[in-house]
Amino acid sequence: MIAMKGIVKEFPGVLAVDHVDFELYPGEIHALLGENGAGKTTLMNVLYGIYKADSGETLINGKPVRINNAVDAQSNRIGMVHQHFSLIPAFTVAENLSIGLKDGGFILKEEYVGSKIKEAEDKYGIHIDVNRKVDDLSIGEQQRVEVLKLLFRGANTLILDEPTSALTPQEAENLFLSLKALKAEGKAIVVITHKLYEVMEIADRVTVLRKGRVVFKSMKAGVTSDILAEAMIGKGVELAKYKKEEVKAEGSLVIEKLMVIGERHDTLVNDATIRLNKGEIIGVAGVSGNGQKELVEALFGMRKISAGSITMGGKDITSSNVKARVMSGLGYIPEERKTKGVAISLSLSLNSVIHSHWGAPYLVNKMFNYTAIRKLAKQIISKFNVAAKSEAALAKNLSGGNLQKFIVGREMLNEPDYLIAVNPTSGLDIGATEYVRKELVDYRNRGKGVLLVSEDLDELLALSDQIVVMYRGSTSPSVNQKDFDRLKIGAMMLGEGFTR
Ligand SMILES: Nc1ncnc2c1ncn2[C@@H]1O[C@H](COP(=O)(O)OP(=O)(O)OP(=O)(O)O)[C@@H](O)[C@H]1O
Ligand SMILES: [Mg+2]
Repeated sequence: MIAMKGIVKEFPGVLAVDHVDFELYPGEIHALLGENGAGKTTLMNVLYGIYKADSGETLINGKPVRINNAVDAQSNRIGMVHQHFSLIPAFTVAENLSIGLKDGGFILKEEYVGSKIKEAEDKYGIHIDVNRKVDDLSIGEQQRVEVLKLLFRGANTLILDEPTSALTPQEAENLFLSLKALKAEGKAIVVITHKLYEVMEIADRVTVLRKGRVVFKSMKAGVTSDILAEAMIGKGVELAKYKKEEVKAEGSLVIEKLMVIGERHDTLVNDATIRLNKGEIIGVAGVSGNGQKELVEALFGMRKISAGSITMGGKDITSSNVKARVMSGLGYIPEERKTKGVAISLSLSLNSVIHSHWGAPYLVNKMFNYTAIRKLAKQIISKFNVAAKSEAALAKNLSGGNLQKFIVGREMLNEPDYLIAVNPTSGLDIGATEYVRKELVDYRNRGKGVLLVSEDLDELLALSDQIVVMYRGSTSPSVNQKDFDRLKIGAMMLGEGFTR
């Protein structure tokens, strides 16, 4: 169906894609693998017309085509869901789906959207309430909208860039079912992923990139995860052991009976109570869309709190703004990296002081001290192994995983007493994931508190001292590490033990 031949794409100083041949057959799911920065996204951006290759050609059904932009891609029935979504948060699902549709006026579109939604539900099992605002949707739900958008525009080739990085196992399972239904119709699907078990579960064919080159290409049959891991990183990864130490540190972050009411008067966070002590990691488990996002936003000062209180080290911060909270010792690794984690068109240097530029050593006599700022950026880059040309590189030019490493590093080096980390390892390759997890445990061992909100239950079980489950905005009592039980917590995530 599609053949890319000899594709080369160079950015100033980085050969991102180096003479790559890539083939895609109808009715297959093709996994594209590789470490952070290997060139996966760039290669697919070339196919989708976002970047023009320096050399090489793309053939569709044997005929050379020129795809210079997303419109060309669409007319060749190629669709892509990016690593970072491109929906308009202030619009409803229906409005987002209508954008770019060519049929008639808005009323017509509404009918069209309605009938198409029905079809998507019946055929591919994709459910979504079209009247909700995208801003209020969980990542999993937003992703369903993105996939629908492609289908609405008639895509035959679907490219999904790390589609499950923020999905719960159940959501991922649902997505896979939808993908299998799409594949059975003859659509060709590219899935970029870091999760080897997903490859084993859904892929028919595998291509692995390393430093811009194809290093492995095969049908999935006969391939093992070990073979793939080795192709990706060249050697076996050592799984870190998380050594937790007894910590004596005074102080806690207390969220008490917190209420957050949404714009449509729905209760998004309902009487949530969490007590995070220093020297402790509290895991927040839950199926995405159960209030975790709103709880965290309220905690960091980005959402109005309707009732309840938050105190940090005894100080009431319930009505403080973001700056005041950060200055009293709160850090935040957000889920939406490009929109909430960095100022995307600024340099890494400037981004490194986003939560610390208010005072010395970065601000002296009302002037930025660029020497100190650059030094900090360099520290983050080297300590967290961020692949970037230099600290002057713009945030938007980093690969997804490298941007995440940068944000994690910035927040940790700022040394907040309490760190909120939302899916801190999503989108990271195997090595980087292990590194970040180990850093989080070290952070705790140094007497800091970590609120780890993650949709990866295994990650929570491995790192947390206690786990709190969120369901429909409410929090469960916390479960102690010695009582961790995968199945039991899984059942709580589905509402067991919660009264409605
Ligand atoms: N617009 C750009 N300008 C400069 N360099 C870029 C740009 N886009 C990507 N790069 C660089 O090209 C290389 C490949 O990046 P790419 O985003 O394709 O990696 P990836 O395999 O998708 O990684 P990840 O798993 O982290 O998403 C990286 O070194 C990245 O920094
Ligand atoms: Mg990428």
